[in-house]
Amino acid sequence: MGRSPGGRVAGKIALVTGAANGLGRAIALRLAEEGATLVLVDIDAAGLAETGRQLEAAGAGSNRPPLVVNADVTEEAPVKALFKQTFDTHGRLDILVNDVGGGTSGHIWEATLGDWDRIIKLNLRSAFLCTREAAAHMKERRSGCIINLSSGAREGTPWTAYYIGNSAYSAAKAGIHGLTRGVALELAEYGVRVNAVAPGPIETERTGPGFRKIEQLEYGPIRATPMRRIGVPQDIANAVLYLASDEAQYITGTTLPVAGGR
Ligand SMILES: NC(=O)c1ccc[n+]([C@@H]2O[C@H](COP(=O)([O-])OP(=O)(O)OC[C@H]3O[C@@H](n4cnc5c(N)ncnc54)[C@H](O)[C@@H]3O)[C@@H](O)[C@H]2O)c1
Repeated sequence: MGRSPGGRVAGKIALVTGAANGLGRAIALRLAEEGATLVLVDIDAAGLAETGRQLEAAGAGSNRPPLVVNADVTEEAPVKALFKQTFDTHGRLDILVNDVGGGTSGHIWEATLGDWDRIIKLNLRSAFLCTREAAAHMKERRSGCIINLSSGAREGTPWTAYYIGNSAYSAAKAGIHGLTRGVALELAEYGVRVNAVAPGPIETERTGPGFRKIEQLEYGPIRATPMRRIGVPQDIANAVLYLASDEAQYITGTTLPVAGGR
């Protein structure tokens, strides 16, 4: 397979949720760099504007300008409106990246029902709602791919368990793996691929200070990672780009760990 001249996802329409910060922003920038036209979605309007500014500054600009949508992807009505706006603007969607997620719940013996429900909703309901809209459309077109953000936490994170406790998040990210497998099998015969990336500890504005603090404790993320470093957002963006590109055309239903050997 030759390298596509306009980039590895040239001409594709890519929707990235959580694009206002952290990994979502890095993923959006990387996909744009390789020729995709972006739909940027987040609840953080100021962060979205900053991502838009960085896209412009990067000159990711033989592509069409991004469609910027300020929406809560954990709720059904805004998600339906988001996909309608995407189809009205671009006529189709080729790549969906379900990046929205996160949250801490505290040790299991003190976590409230509210903590549990909030984290399942943020990580799993958001992915379900966006995947359902994209799947109906991609199945019809017999083309497209979906990439979910799972986490090393899908198997438990020792340092987080030691420090704060986060089993709802682990459960949600294991759920993302199951969702990825299940939807991949449903859509395989339609030529639609569904995969996940499972980041290890990745330095972002939100996570960096916490990782350094935990490193002082017995189970720090750097010592617990065989490659002995925290990852950078580009590590995740590159993995998402690969899974979104035609280079991964025979890959579906996988969760790819990008975690320095963990
Ligand atoms: N950073 C890491 O080390 C790491 C490791 C493993 C997995 N992950 C996963 O990667 C993804 C991105 O992580 P991050 O560190 O960049 O997180 P982040 O908190 O920096 O970014 C998440 C984005 O989602 C947005 N968001 C939150 N709720 C929303 C909602 N209801 N609707 C729309 N947007 C909403 C936030 O405004 C934010 O811009 C998450 O799914 C996270 O669980 C991150």
